[in-house]
Amino acid sequence: MKLHKLASPLGSEILDIDLSRPIDDATFRQIDDAFSERSVLVFRDQVMTPAQHVEFSRRFGGLEIHVLKQYLLADFPEILLISNVVENGKPVGIADAGQQWHTDLSYVEIPSRCSILYAKQIPEPGPDKTYGDTCFVSTAAAYDALDPEMQKYLGTLKARHSYLKRPHVRAKLSEEQKKQVPEVIHPVIRTHPVTGRKCIYVNESFTTEIVGLGKEESDALILQLCEHCQSEQFMYRHKWRVGDVLMWDNCSTQHLAVADYGPEQARLMNRTTVRGTAVF
Ligand code: SIN
Repeated sequence: MKLHKLASPLGSEILDIDLSRPIDDATFRQIDDAFSERSVLVFRDQVMTPAQHVEFSRRFGGLEIHVLKQYLLADFPEILLISNVVENGKPVGIADAGQQWHTDLSYVEIPSRCSILYAKQIPEPGPDKTYGDTCFVSTAAAYDALDPEMQKYLGTLKARHSYLKRPHVRAKLSEEQKKQVPEVIHPVIRTHPVTGRKCIYVNESFTTEIVGLGKEESDALILQLCEHCQSEQFMYRHKWRVGDVLMWDNCSTQHLAVADYGPEQARLMNRTTVRGTAVF
């Protein structure tokens, strides 16, 4: 196995490893350590069955089953399909997943540790452009770049998160599904459970309010923190190839799926979501 750091504040590429085969404990520890340090890992040229994807993901923790049950892979409810493909008049997966900056499952009490996305179909690249890239930012690097007064102030605040923030998402959920995603409150600055690094934990998809501030001040602070996190200096932009497996840390990163391709360009990704630990 070869590891090399990408030229960004986050991300490493891992070569010469086959994730469809069992991974011994020493190799797993190396992967896990690299993941804690770099927050995003990219494995190239993988060919995995759903069962192998699930097995690899389980090395990092228990797996979540997404609330949108209609987009789970048959026989593998741990795998969520993210796709614009339509079969027999029905979308096979969530077509607009992640097209606003977010971190997965910040809207639940115990958010996800990490997500592992496997690229099955990717829009055909043009001569000098790829389509359907995913951008990641380091919320730990974004925190480090704040001035100490601001860090101190943010450390006293909490924020409300809701899966139902966006009206088009709300419309897709049954009343029963809505009950499964009540609002939650998390600290604005959370501490990474492994590295101890402080991370900004406010995102434009799910954070609805800074608790205790008036609406105007709260909206302005959410916007300010989101714009700060989304700065190029904290970013890695992944240009997908079929067979890429990419995992990201849901405490120390935020991500955005770039929606720059049409319905005629199929994009199909399988995602597992690993359970995390309580936020502090
Ligand atoms: C996601 O937010 O989980 C999906 C990211 C992507 O499709 O690139």
